[in-house]
Amino acid sequence: MTFQMTPEKGRFVTFEGGEGVGKSTQLARLAEHLRECGFEVVTTREPGGTEKAEKLRDFLLSGRAAPLGPLAEAALFSAARADHVATLIAPALKRGAWVLCDRFADSTRAYQGARGGVDAKTLALLERAAVGETRPDLTIVLDLPAGEGMARAASRRDGGERADRFESEDPSFHEGLRHAFLDIAESEPERCCVIDASLSVDDVARTVRAFIHDRFLAHAAQAAQ
Ligand code: TYD
Repeated sequence: MTFQMTPEKGRFVTFEGGEGVGKSTQLARLAEHLRECGFEVVTTREPGGTEKAEKLRDFLLSGRAAPLGPLAEAALFSAARADHVATLIAPALKRGAWVLCDRFADSTRAYQGARGGVDAKTLALLERAAVGETRPDLTIVLDLPAGEGMARAASRRDGGERADRFESEDPSFHEGLRHAFLDIAESEPERCCVIDASLSVDDVARTVRAFIHDRFLAHAAQAAQ
C-alpha cells in the first residue's frame, strides 16, 4: 500500500516492551514502510540517540550507575533524554519528519519506577523536565511472556556479548516489567496500543502498519481528498 501525501506535521512514535520483544526489528520495518510512503523518517533509540546521550548510555548499561540506586539511574536516563529531545527529536518533528524511537519515557516508568521503586510523582517531574511538550503521539507496546523475551535476548547474545545491566536481572524482574508496560498501556489507551509479539515478524509488522494507518494516515488521506 503506498500513500503519496505530505503529513500535516511530524509524528512521534515510540516502541516499548521488555527485553527481546523485537522492538528494533519492528521499528526498522515501520521506517522502511513509511519511507516507501514518501515520508522523511528519523529512527533513534534510548538511552542514546545523540553523542552526549550515547555516553550516558555506555555508563548506564555497563552497570556502573547501578550502585547509585534507581533514583540516580532515573535522573541519568532523563538527562540523556533531555539532550535527545532537544537536539534530535523536537527539531525533526518541527520540520515534519516522523520520529520512531526504540524506548522512551515509559521505559523509565517501568524499569526505574515499577521495578526500581522510584515513586511516580518524582518520575513525572523528571519526565516533564526532560521532554516538555514532546510526548509520543503513539506508543506501541510489544508484549511477550518474559521467559520468551529473555530467551530471545539470550540467543541474540550467542556471539559472546555479555548481558547488560538490566538483562541480567532475575526472571521475576522481567515478568514485573511486562505487567508494568501493560499497566501503562491500560492507563493511557488513547496513546498506547499493545501488540502480541509472539506472532511472526511479518504479522507483527502488518499489525503495526494497520495501527499507523488507522491512527494517522487514513485521516490524512481523507483530508487530502
Ligand atoms: P538495549 O540494549 O537498548 O535493550 P533493548 O534491546 O531491550 O531495548 O538497552 C536498554 C536498556 O536500558 C534496557 O534494559 C532497558 C533500560 N532502560 C531503562 O532502564 N530505563 C530507561 O529509561 C530506558 C530508556 C532504558
